[in-house]
Amino acid sequence: MKAKRRAITTGDRPAASKRQVVIRRPRPATPSIAPRPRAEARPATADPLADMRPAVVAGDVDLTVDLGRGLVLPNPILVASGTFGYGVEYGEVVDVDRLGGICCKGTTLKARIGNPTPRVTETPGGMLNSIGLQNPGVDAVVAKYAATWAGWRVPVIVNVAGESVGDYVEVARRLEGVPGVAGIELNISCPNVGRGGLQFAIDAGAAGEVTAAVRRVTDLPLLVKLSPNVADVRPIARAIADAGADALTAINTLSGIAVAPGRGRPLLGNIYGGLSGPAVKPVALRIVYEATQAVRIPVVAIGGVTELADVLDFLAVGAVAVQVGTAIFADPTLPVRLVDELAEHCAAGGHTSFRPLVGTALPRKAGAPSAKGAEYRP
Ligand SMILES: Cc1cc2nc3c(=O)[nH]c(=O)nc-3n(C[C@H](O)[C@H](O)[C@H](O)COP(=O)(O)O)c2cc1C
Repeated sequence: MKAKRRAITTGDRPAASKRQVVIRRPRPATPSIAPRPRAEARPATADPLADMRPAVVAGDVDLTVDLGRGLVLPNPILVASGTFGYGVEYGEVVDVDRLGGICCKGTTLKARIGNPTPRVTETPGGMLNSIGLQNPGVDAVVAKYAATWAGWRVPVIVNVAGESVGDYVEVARRLEGVPGVAGIELNISCPNVGRGGLQFAIDAGAAGEVTAAVRRVTDLPLLVKLSPNVADVRPIARAIADAGADALTAINTLSGIAVAPGRGRPLLGNIYGGLSGPAVKPVALRIVYEATQAVRIPVVAIGGVTELADVLDFLAVGAVAVQVGTAIFADPTLPVRLVDELAEHCAAGGHTSFRPLVGTALPRKAGAPSAKGAEYRP
């Protein structure tokens, strides 16, 4: 099944666009990325070649990312599922069209009311949530938001959850061909009712099976989200790639609990919650480091991004893009600022693209001892 490409040049607004959106280098226009001084005006640096290179201005840095099957992001900074609603909620605060992509709230076949309260609590360096995939169901999501998404330049990727392979397949079918839906991200950190409630994401067979089943019914770019709650992510990443996913995203939240004041019971209504925020970043880095070496498809990193240094760290371990999640609750303008800061960083280093920053911390030789990853030797 071949996907059609559709090129939209800077400044274009797609009319009711098809899902595979190709976006060519948007030129950010905020003052924070105003042109840098030209080469001759630059102070002398330690780099002997610096004065021989033409100066790169931030607006000319190519930030596009090809995730496959025609999904080309305008830049590598996306917003993570569950932390940016359906995008429309932030229209007043953020120019959503400056984002690299929006992963919308988890969407299921039927409406879900979510878990009992309390559903969130703060933790050192992060938060625990047990929202329980509250959402109005796929048909309502399409009816309510897809027309708005179709008018945006930013690709909207619908995050899909389910309790059975059949659920995922049916949601994917209903998203197929809907203008405004640029791709699907499978949240496979959900209990598989058919297998005694075992999460799809913790078993290579189940993860591969659900990916293959969705792949068969959709031409949409297919991203699959890895769980960190596994002993070794590599066989799972490989099974998903072999089943036809176009890209991996990593990581979902880490399973945890909190204790209520008085210590008579767990705090969250659902007992278990998902840990996110800066506290999970080292785990996310490790999983991305392992996944990027295990598969050939692109990996999009998620977990604790709060500043440009985090983005650069994830690129260094091989991610081609990052999603910002929990940090949005504190500052919804952060993702767009990171786009500008990344462009500035590349320009300052003389790079016309961010690609030279990808994979710099990976072992040079496949199979080098440092690629063993999951081993822990204090
Ligand atoms: C309140 C909340 C709701 C979330 N809902 C979803 C969801 O519906 N689907 C999903 O795949 N991930 C969901 N996530 C996980 C995030 O997308 C992300 O993978 C995780 O929070 C790690 O990134 P962060 O540390 O930047 O937040 C949710 C996270 C939070 C904090």
